[in-house]
Amino acid sequence: MVSMFILPAMLHAFSSFGWSMAQNSHHRPHHIHVGVILDMESPVGEMAQQCMTMAISDLNASPSHINHPLKLILHPRNSMGQPLKALSSAVELLENEQVDALIGPQTSEEAELLGELGDRVPIISFSASSPLLSREKNPNFIRMTTNDNSQVGAIAALVQKFGWRELVIIHEDSSYGNGIIPDLLLALHEGNARVAHRTVLPPQARDIYVEAQLYKLMALSANIFIVHMSASLASRFFIKVNELGLMSTGYGWIVTDGIVNELPVMDQSVLDSMQGVIGIRPSIPPSERLHNFSMKWRNNFFTNQHHQIPEVNVYCLWAYDSVWALAKAAYHLGSDLVHTILRGKFTGLSGEIQLKNGQLQQPLAFEIVNVIGRVKRIGFWTQWNGMTQGLNRSNVATQSPSLRKMGSIGWPGSSSAVPKGQRVMPKTGRDENRSSN
Ligand SMILES: *[C@@H]1O[C@H](CO)[C@@H](O)[C@H](O)[C@H]1NC(C)=O
Ligand SMILES: *[C@@H]1O[C@H](CO)[C@@H](O)[C@H](O)[C@H]1NC(C)=O
Ligand SMILES: *[C@@H]1O[C@H](CO)[C@@H](O)[C@H](O)[C@H]1NC(C)=O
Repeated sequence: MVSMFILPAMLHAFSSFGWSMAQNSHHRPHHIHVGVILDMESPVGEMAQQCMTMAISDLNASPSHINHPLKLILHPRNSMGQPLKALSSAVELLENEQVDALIGPQTSEEAELLGELGDRVPIISFSASSPLLSREKNPNFIRMTTNDNSQVGAIAALVQKFGWRELVIIHEDSSYGNGIIPDLLLALHEGNARVAHRTVLPPQARDIYVEAQLYKLMALSANIFIVHMSASLASRFFIKVNELGLMSTGYGWIVTDGIVNELPVMDQSVLDSMQGVIGIRPSIPPSERLHNFSMKWRNNFFTNQHHQIPEVNVYCLWAYDSVWALAKAAYHLGSDLVHTILRGKFTGLSGEIQLKNGQLQQPLAFEIVNVIGRVKRIGFWTQWNGMTQGLNRSNVATQSPSLRKMGSIGWPGSSSAVPKGQRVMPKTGRDENRSSN
């Protein structure tokens, strides 16, 4: 994936910023050292860095900073997407920098490994969403992100709405990819949809392997798919899907929020291969603060003369809110940092922040999006009202449940008709019955 937005000026600011502390204060500033472990070469890692830089500058300008001089010092480390590198960075940050907290790591695999560090400092991840990560193992693990299971209701509702009774799940073989499966199967089963087949891809699957798996799916005459994998695998996967003609009329594809959240930073070539895909993502309530933030974000890019401005995604907002959660806890420090963060409640850039079981609560609403050109929102799903076309500013459905409408959908092959779910061949019969497809 091409990185679209390396901003030398901002990156410099990132590595050297601190709080320009209140000059007139009599107090000595309280220093909080924060280790940041991200894959700095990935679009999410790069974006999150900039969003944290902006969080620090907004904190410096906030009234509470004037009253409580606090110097937040970030120590960024590049995990390069490798769990072992993330772990060794964490050890190094704890021992050499004596950090008070860690923000990151980026992936569930890395978070799983960092759990081995035991309960030393709070570890706040804004993107490790696997349900398999447990706080029992590491009570200091906090996620400023939702658990992947929170979206299974929305996905099952889509499947039901389109009348699909049989489908195939394609997922990554990792903590992230596997974690959602039990709850997803259950939700689909409750909606009377049968998962006829599951295709499991290693995170580093080579293109030739992906291709072979897709040929198997063609032999099964499967045409409805749910895809749950990291965005980096998905970007290679969908190029192959399109090449093999599986993104054409008659096929239906649903993707989970991990992919949808990253669509704004994906290459156009990937989006071109995903035309007609449906997906969901948590809905972020609009606010003046978010609007101001987005304007500032765009300005930063303009002043750096960037030709393409990536849309802010939810990981950016959660990274921003992680910095604030930490700073707020440090202002009001009670007995210890972890408990103060866990009990904290505030309005963040991404909405109301109140952690439950150490993670963000289920979003009040999910957006349903359709890849047409780039990303188009076609409706919302809320747990109480199901599908609707609109929400009010508190993320509450504005229509009655009887009015289950969505905007029009552009399906693969530029078709406007909902693909009809085909009977998926039993696995054993695929060879002798192949010609009947
Ligand atoms: C948003 O920006 C405007 C103009 O700079 C400012 O007046 C307003 O207070 C800001 N609102 C928030 C919530 O930050
Ligand atoms: C949104 O709708 C709910 C339910 O009708 C209502 O209680 C809430 O006040 C509304 N919020 C706004 C901002 O309009
Ligand atoms: C394959 O097709 C034949 C006839 O078309 C049918 O009798 C047979 O049951 C099918 N096998 C499977 C495994 O579906």
